[in-house]
Amino acid sequence: MSTSTQTISRPPPREHWSSGLAFILAAAGSAVGLGNIWKFPYITGMNGGGWFVLIYLIAVLCVALPIMVAEILIGRTAQRSPVAAFRVLDGDKSAWQGIGWLGVAAAFVILSYYSVVAGWTLHYSWLALSQGFEGLDGPAVKALFGQVHADPGINLFWHAVFMILTVSIVVAGVHRGVERWSRILMPLLFFMVLALVLRAAGTDGFGRALDFVFGAHSDRLTPAGVLEAVGHSFFTLSLGMGAMLTYGSYMRAREDVVTTSLAVGGLDTLISLLACLMIFPIIFGAGLEPSAGPGLVFISLPIAFGQLPGGALWALVFFVLLAVAALTSAISLLEVAVSHTVDVHGWKRRRATLLIGAVIFVVGVPSALSGGTALFGGDVAAATAVLFGEGKGKNWLDLFDYLASNWMLPLGGFGMALFVAWRMGGAAREQAFKAGSRFARLYWGWVWLLRYVVPAGVLAVFLHAIGLI
Ligand code: PHE
Repeated sequence: MSTSTQTISRPPPREHWSSGLAFILAAAGSAVGLGNIWKFPYITGMNGGGWFVLIYLIAVLCVALPIMVAEILIGRTAQRSPVAAFRVLDGDKSAWQGIGWLGVAAAFVILSYYSVVAGWTLHYSWLALSQGFEGLDGPAVKALFGQVHADPGINLFWHAVFMILTVSIVVAGVHRGVERWSRILMPLLFFMVLALVLRAAGTDGFGRALDFVFGAHSDRLTPAGVLEAVGHSFFTLSLGMGAMLTYGSYMRAREDVVTTSLAVGGLDTLISLLACLMIFPIIFGAGLEPSAGPGLVFISLPIAFGQLPGGALWALVFFVLLAVAALTSAISLLEVAVSHTVDVHGWKRRRATLLIGAVIFVVGVPSALSGGTALFGGDVAAATAVLFGEGKGKNWLDLFDYLASNWMLPLGGFGMALFVAWRMGGAAREQAFKAGSRFARLYWGWVWLLRYVVPAGVLAVFLHAIGLI
């Protein structure tokens, strides 16, 4: 007879990635998303490039990567999803499992609106395929954007399509679902990114774009920009809500956490930089502004594609790329919730995936509808600003994003860093870090970052989010 506590301490055999590379592809799939291809270019554009990029890179190294190692390490050690993991490591009554619950809640919150925005990328792919953007001038593209967002039918339809795609991958399990599709979609993603960068390299705007992204333009960098860089390093690496923890729980104990974290962080950063190099040359080439803000991808870029020879095809490649990037991130969000109900409540994966997928679809309906007139009626900037936390308290999509990006993720990451740095036994921590690692000598540096630098960095983001600094 098994009680629920025993279910946690003695669960059915856990699925594992078939190799370290499989983990890297899946985790990079989670990390690389709308945050890289849409948000990073536009915040770089708004913060003047150069110095902002440098500070972002420092934030990735000193704040985000130490947290990523901590998260994956918790998952790999406990071999469980967030809530169950804290129970295994700290006892059934541990208060730390609150961090796990927060992560599961964040999965529902984030995926519900992420899917709506991912739906737009599907719709834009369809538009590129069926009519292209050729011949459309600025006002026409803006009108098209407004029209799409004012139509609840379109938003609901693509939200449903995207959730069905996500569910059908996750339902097949870690091995035949997540791993298999990461192996197919991630190379496809890299290929599309390279093709677009090469295409952009052939345009007149490329030199200007290089200078913009890598040149020193300190004049536009503000303290708020620095905090934005830290906050973004967090979101873009899928940290703070247990996505990396859950993927880490499918890792075997002998797999090296540090090397894999560096690989995932490196790939994610590479894609963000390449995204800039494929978007800005085309933007500059068409004589448009890099600092257009959130509308960069949904408005400026279609206008620019409309002027490019073969633009319809490149627009199609670009929006399919965005959809693929969003899909591999969405899979990881759904997996957190599914893995949780399987580990803690003993549900079967199939039932868990279908039910949770349906619930998230429903939770996303208000976001899909707020894609209609209420929020977006012609206000293009507001319409696109909502995804990553610029606006506050206007509508569902807006509110959900604000809650997740500014509160849940920083709080979760903060908690996980504190747990590993101060609560977890030193011997267990050291052994887990060093197991199979080529980077064992980084141990004390990592602990030091986790103890002092990470909490300070996250706290700063946090205080900024509530307007105190
Ligand atoms: N990292 C993803 C992106 O850049 C978003 C994400 C956040 C995915 C948290 C999973 C968990 O778009």
